[in-house]
Amino acid sequence: MTTTGWLDGDVALITGAGSGIGRAVALRYLREGASVAVFGRELDRLQSTVEAAGADADRVLPLVGDVRSADDLSAAVAATVERFGKLDVLVPNAGIWDFNRSISRTTPDEIGAIYDELFDINVKGYLLTVSTAWRELVKTEGSIVMTLSNAAYYAAGGGPVYTAAKHATRGLVTQLAYELAPKVRVNGVAVGGLRTDLRGPESAGLKDRSIEQSFAKRDGERGPNMWLPLHDASTDPDDSTGPYVLLASKRNASVITGTVIHADGGIGVRGFATAAGGDDL
Ligand SMILES: NC(=O)c1ccc[n+]([C@@H]2O[C@H](COP(=O)([O-])OP(=O)(O)OC[C@H]3O[C@@H](n4cnc5c(N)ncnc54)[C@H](O)[C@@H]3O)[C@@H](O)[C@H]2O)c1
Repeated sequence: MTTTGWLDGDVALITGAGSGIGRAVALRYLREGASVAVFGRELDRLQSTVEAAGADADRVLPLVGDVRSADDLSAAVAATVERFGKLDVLVPNAGIWDFNRSISRTTPDEIGAIYDELFDINVKGYLLTVSTAWRELVKTEGSIVMTLSNAAYYAAGGGPVYTAAKHATRGLVTQLAYELAPKVRVNGVAVGGLRTDLRGPESAGLKDRSIEQSFAKRDGERGPNMWLPLHDASTDPDDSTGPYVLLASKRNASVITGTVIHADGGIGVRGFATAAGGDDL
């Protein structure tokens, strides 16, 4: 096979790659010439990513496991290296959302339960993913690209638990970039709202509800995304994959570490009366 992608010959391991942004990044990395191990809780979801890869399916390795299990992750790293010979790029991405459960609308018991489950997956899961894989990344002088969120910077991308968890992962980018330099670069992509299958904590009865349903309710008369400066910023996860390619690329990002790219339609430059100042241009 001859490709001219930015990740030619690289090997990536992506958690939560059976749907949403993880799957979109896996398919994009394939198009950029990488081989990808896709890790997630449910085999049928991972198989759908393999099927979506089409002719490139031989470069996809589905691996079932839970990011709360160091054993599952260690086995996944070993299986990736056994199949593809090395690991260049790690994408900690698997996560859940708290469906904006606010402090005033939850009991102390509820907030505690949401915290335990969500932090276990969204924060400890990222730590364990890195903890089990960093040695392989040192060997290849590879990199880590973490999925962050607008909630790593701003209010109202979730409730207090999700917002705190995403702020925590922003801290992981900073600290791990320091700890793993100079051999391994560590960066993040703060994606904005995406129409995915993002679910909530089982402990709050939100396991079967998806963020897509929340978006559908919110579209209203203004239409999707009109609160963003880039009104037509897509919520198709594939449109957010470019920064993941750039940050993973040894050729194009060799001097970039500890950085987060905001891929959120411009939330940080939103105005007061209107979302964008140039609507009459
Ligand atoms: N959808 C959005 O609006 C949005 C916005 C900002 C950030 N994010 C972040 O993007 C990341 C991916 O979410 P998504 O929107 O693609 O949702 P998604 O539900 O489509 O993808 C998340 C994947 O992680 C898997 N997963 C969940 N818990 C797991 C566990 N314990 N072990 C292994 N796999 C597990 C799920 O099965 C799913 O396939 C998350 O970190 C999320 O916080 C999403």
